[in-house]
Amino acid sequence: MCPTPWRGSYPWSVTTLDSLSPALDDRSATAWWRDAVIYQVYPLSFADSDGDGVGDLPGITARLDHLAELGVDAIWLSPFYVSPRADAGYDVADYRDIDPVFGTLADADAMLARARELGLRVLVDLVPNHTSDEHAWFRAALGAGRGTPERARYIFREGRGEDGEQPPNDWGSVFGGPAWTRVTEPDGSPGQWYLHLFDVKQPDLDWSNPEVWEEFRSVLRFWLDRGVDGFRVDVAHGLVKAPGLPDWSEGPRMLDSGVAQDAPPPMWDQEGVHEIYRDWHAVLAEYDGDRALVAEAWVQPLARLARYVRPDEMHQAFNFDFLLSPWRAEDLRTVVTDSLREMGAVGAPATWVLSNHDVVRHTSRLGLPVGTPKPNGINRDSAVQPDDEVGLRRARAATLLMLALPGSSYLFQGEELGLPEHVALDNDVRQDPTFVRSEGLELGRDGCRVPLPWDHAAPAFGFGPSERTWLPQPESFARHAADLQRGVPGSTLELYRAALRLRRDLGLGAGELQWLDGYGEDVVAFRSATTTVVANLGAETMALPRDAEVLVVSGDLVTVDGDRSAVPSDTTVWLRA
Ligand code: NOJ
Ligand code: MG
Repeated sequence: MCPTPWRGSYPWSVTTLDSLSPALDDRSATAWWRDAVIYQVYPLSFADSDGDGVGDLPGITARLDHLAELGVDAIWLSPFYVSPRADAGYDVADYRDIDPVFGTLADADAMLARARELGLRVLVDLVPNHTSDEHAWFRAALGAGRGTPERARYIFREGRGEDGEQPPNDWGSVFGGPAWTRVTEPDGSPGQWYLHLFDVKQPDLDWSNPEVWEEFRSVLRFWLDRGVDGFRVDVAHGLVKAPGLPDWSEGPRMLDSGVAQDAPPPMWDQEGVHEIYRDWHAVLAEYDGDRALVAEAWVQPLARLARYVRPDEMHQAFNFDFLLSPWRAEDLRTVVTDSLREMGAVGAPATWVLSNHDVVRHTSRLGLPVGTPKPNGINRDSAVQPDDEVGLRRARAATLLMLALPGSSYLFQGEELGLPEHVALDNDVRQDPTFVRSEGLELGRDGCRVPLPWDHAAPAFGFGPSERTWLPQPESFARHAADLQRGVPGSTLELYRAALRLRRDLGLGAGELQWLDGYGEDVVAFRSATTTVVANLGAETMALPRDAEVLVVSGDLVTVDGDRSAVPSDTTVWLRA
C-alpha cells in the first residue's frame, strides 16, 4: 500500500509581526550563515578511503580541498552516527559516536580540524524525531514492558479492536505501509504498538517527555563542544504530534506539496515544536561564533515556514518551495518574492536549494517536461524520461540564478559536476526503504545518492581505492568526473567556481533584490548589489544592451544584429549593473 500523500498548505494567514522586535533577535546581523553557500556532503557517497565501497570521514577529510577551491563557505554532513542504516543513517543508534563504516570520533575531530584550517564551517545532521530501533533506549523499551518509563520515551499505545489487533490510529508511514508496528511483550504475548512515521526501524520519540528534551540538549552540547558550527534538524516539523493522535485519513507526506487542507495534519507542524526550538536556540546562544540551526521542515505556505526562524528559534529553514518551483519565469519570480518577504518579516535570510539527497537531481528534474510533478525516483520504465541536454542547460541556468539571490544557498554534492540522476538503477540494488515499503510504487531516492566520480580513468571513477561502490555508478559518470572538468573553461565545475568567487566578491548574498521590468514575461531579471542578473526561460533569444559587461554566463551567448550579444533560451547571465 502506498500512503496517500499529505498535500498540505494552510489556508489561514499568519501574523509574524509579534516577533519583529530587534531587541528579541540575538542573531547577529552579520552572522556567517546569513549569506553562506553551504555544500551538502553525503558521507556514504562522497569519498571512500578504505576501499569498502562506502564513503567515510577520512575520505571526506582528504577531499576537503576540493570544497575550499570550489569556494563554498560551509559544509553540512548527512548523518555519520552509529546506525544499522535502515534509512541511510537517518536511523541513529548512538548520537555520540561514529559508525565504524565512517570511522571514529578521532576521524570526526580530524575532519573538523581540517575544515577549520581551510576556513570551512561545519554543520552536522541532528535526527530528533526518531531513533533507530537498535538505540539503547528502544531496546530497553521493548524489554521493560507496558507502562514503564522506558516505554514513555517513545509513542507506544494499545491497539484498537477486541484484542488490540488493530493499529491505534490510521496513520501511514511516509515511506509507505502503516505507521504502527506491534511488539511482542517480554512474556511472549502480542503487545502494544509503536509509532514510526518513517521506517519500522525508526520509532518516533515522545517529545512530551522531559527526558527526551534533556537528552537532546545534551547531544547538542556534545557536538557544539567538539566545535561544530550548527545543526541541520531532520523532520523539524514532525516532533510533536496532536494530542490524542487523531485519525488522519490522508496519511502523512513530507516530501511534496500541493492542494490546500483545512487544518494541519496531526503529525506535522504542531504548535509545540516551536517551544523545542526556542529551547535549543538558548543552548546555542551559550556558545560563541554564531552557531546555527537549520530546519528541514516541509511546511507551507512560506509564512508558516517562517515561524521556524523567528528571532528566538532557528536561524534558517530550507526553502523547498523554491526547489519545487516549475521552470517558469512567473513561478520563480513569485517564489523568490514570497521567500524574501516572509523570511525578511522575521529577520531571517531566505535560503535557496535545488538538489539534496531526497529529490531527483536538478540536472535531471529540469530535463523533464515543464510542469511534470516532482518524481520520487526515475527508472528505465518511467513514463517521462529526462532530456539530458536540456536538463544540464537548465540546471546551470537555475544554479546561476540561485547563486545571485540574496540569502543563503545550499548545494548538493556532485551538482558542481553537473551530475545527472542515475535513471537506470536495477531494482535489486535499491536501498531506500521507500521502494520496498511502497511495494515498488515509489522508486525512492537512490538515484541521487550514487558515489561521486573524481577521476574518469580510476576504478570506481576515483570514489575510492577499489572497484567497490555501495550503489553502482552509471557509465556516464566518467565524462562528469572532476578531473576532466578542473581548469576546463566552460565546464560545470568551473562555472560553479567562477560564480561562487564572483558572488563573494560582489557581495550578492548580502544584496538587496530589485526586480527589473521590460525584459518580457519569460525572463527573470533583477538587480542585486552591483549586478544585473538575467535568466531567459523563454524560447526567444534575448538581445543584451550593446554596452553590457558580462561577468559570467551559464551557457554560450549568441550574436544578433551583427555584433550584439544575446542570451539564448535557458541561459542565465550576470552583468555589471
Ligand atoms: C529527512 C531526511 O532528509 C530523509 O533522508 C530521511 O529519510 C527522513 N528525514 C527521515 O529521517
Ligand atoms: Mg569506506
